[in-house]
Amino acid sequence: MKLSLLTSAAILARKNLFAKNVKYADTQYPVMKGEPIVISTWDFGKEANAAAWEVLKNGGKALDAVETGVKVPEADPDNQSVGLGGRPDRDGRVTLDACIMDENSRCGSVACLEHIVHAISVARMVMEKTPHVMIVGDGALQFALANGFKKENLLTPKSEKEWKEWLKESHYEPWMNVENEHYHKANGTPGNEKNHDTIGMVAMDKNGDLSGACTTSGLAYKMHGRVGDSPIIGAGLYVDNEVGAATSTGVGEEVIRIVGSHLVVELMRQGVDPETACRKAVERIVARNPVAAKEVQVGFLAMNKKGEYGAYALQDGFTYAVRSGKEEKIYPAKHIF
Ligand code: GLY
Repeated sequence: MKLSLLTSAAILARKNLFAKNVKYADTQYPVMKGEPIVISTWDFGKEANAAAWEVLKNGGKALDAVETGVKVPEADPDNQSVGLGGRPDRDGRVTLDACIMDENSRCGSVACLEHIVHAISVARMVMEKTPHVMIVGDGALQFALANGFKKENLLTPKSEKEWKEWLKESHYEPWMNVENEHYHKANGTPGNEKNHDTIGMVAMDKNGDLSGACTTSGLAYKMHGRVGDSPIIGAGLYVDNEVGAATSTGVGEEVIRIVGSHLVVELMRQGVDPETACRKAVERIVARNPVAAKEVQVGFLAMNKKGEYGAYALQDGFTYAVRSGKEEKIYPAKHIF
């Protein structure tokens, strides 16, 4: 497998995608006590938030909201980085990673799960029906099938065609901001339905309880068996009901190295606001390896117990969606490079 890095020219070309009309979120007092709110990664999070909001606005629990929300991109065959239609690994197999965590620190996770559209619901079942936190590979598939999930082919003709094209050179390269690729090409306005990637979602319900969910098909054309940050509690997602919750997207290896989402929550515990906590986590990646950090994308998204939220990314191009009684918006995240 050839691992190459994006060129500086390509990175520069991607810079300032939001240079015009940049409007960052005003996150101070976004909701009153007892008002629900949901946030999620990337602009396609808007549709996922809408489904989660139906649960929250009717007084439902944050746990149900985040599961319901992320099932939207999981079921979308046009979304090539989550669930059905996800880009396969280099062997042509679609393998899913997902985790979920609630206000009582209960958590469940599946990794390298094949043939099941709603990996997040299998993760929830691991949390609720087993004494374990994480089940992987064939064991996760067997567990899902034993619990009534249907076996399906997740490789859509589009993803299969692209994979076969990729096989001609088999050139492995994490694809920065692939999530919003169609968005930038389409019209430069957030909300394009074709945007896609890992979805990380965090919600607070009317009781002030927090939950989170994260689900992905991972990096396209990864080695078979590769697991990213998304199913790792503490890396791709972390919830502490006393403090706040965080999730991540981008190149999972970089997030795992700093146990990113847990780091963001711990920074919030020290009194730091969500955006600053996300920025400090991103800076930790840069400090570890300043050269490598320029070549990859990682974004963090977080919410504290007041319902304040914030995000930060390594590179330009990371967006996140917010839904509350006061707003339904997509914001660009601030970034280091
Ligand atoms: N953040 C998704 C992955 O690295 O697989």
